[in-house]
Amino acid sequence: MAIFGELLATLKDHHGPNTQFQVIHEDLEMNDFNSLFKRMSGIIPDPPSYLLKMDNVYVLASGTNFYKQCIPSNSMHFMMSMTSVHWLSRTSTTFKNAIYKDAKSSTEETVALHKQAELDWETFLLRRSRELKRGGLLVVGICAVFEDRNTGENKYTMYSLVGLLNEVWKEYSESGKISKEEFVNTNISACYRTMKEMRKPFDNKTSPVSRSGLTLLSAEAVVNPDVFYNDWREKKDKEGIDDREEFARMYVSAHRNWSNSTFMNGLSDSRSLEEKEQIVDGLYDDVKKRISRMNPEIFKDDVKFIYLVIRKE
Ligand SMILES: C[S@@+](CC[C@H](N)C(=O)[O-])C[C@H]1O[C@@H](n2cnc3c(N)ncnc32)[C@H](O)[C@@H]1O
Repeated sequence: MAIFGELLATLKDHHGPNTQFQVIHEDLEMNDFNSLFKRMSGIIPDPPSYLLKMDNVYVLASGTNFYKQCIPSNSMHFMMSMTSVHWLSRTSTTFKNAIYKDAKSSTEETVALHKQAELDWETFLLRRSRELKRGGLLVVGICAVFEDRNTGENKYTMYSLVGLLNEVWKEYSESGKISKEEFVNTNISACYRTMKEMRKPFDNKTSPVSRSGLTLLSAEAVVNPDVFYNDWREKKDKEGIDDREEFARMYVSAHRNWSNSTFMNGLSDSRSLEEKEQIVDGLYDDVKKRISRMNPEIFKDDVKFIYLVIRKE
């Protein structure tokens, strides 16, 4: 809401108050678009809707998978996609010993993941290239992989949390709470990429993406601090309260929203929906308890992000 409010205010200053704007919010067909419209109109008041302060702005939604073309060719001036292109079009491999690539993953598993990621990144860009007008801009922000300065290890955003989810899920499969097959079938269908992988279609001037007219104006790697760690630390420093339970509660509720479906999908369809939900509720409860017993100084996970600004020539 905030960023589009500011963007539209700037554009209105530039083009005059009577200029009309169309904003299209895009997500998968399963997305809860009804909540989006309730937010736009103010029925859900927070965060405040940018529409309430402006005239001549028209909001639509598109429920189309972004690996397909979502809107007519040559029709968009500006597009923005935040924290979404790490999700792949399909699960490229089933990691046998983990829910996501880790140090023990086989070469075949790792290669399959990165091959799918490369293909998907190209598809995503080619679709957007068709949709953009000449001179139009595409801004992409993506959770990324960075090398840890201390250990030299490649760490992706959510490394601590994914490691812990994996540990508890593995224990469930060892104790028989879930089957071995269900563990193998639980995979995060995403890929955290490096700057080199994100730049590749642009650095190669003969790639289909470059030939489609897309050029990279800037590529920036940023580390955003862990907000839950900051809140915990502030309470500790200012009020003298070491509230690790609150840290764990906030962490799990924020990250359950993107990770829940991975575990629900991994469970066998011979189980009822109720049974699946009970197991997955138990997982997040156990993870929450474990985090609350950890030191946030060690568990904290800064968000590693890459921002790309791309133009259609
Ligand atoms: C972490 S959320 C980010 C949402 C929003 N862009 C933001 O920054 O707050 C990732 C979003 O990407 C959407 N998504 C994942 N794969 C997608 C696809 N293939 N097509 C369209 N949307 C997708 C998810 O449904 C989810 O809403």
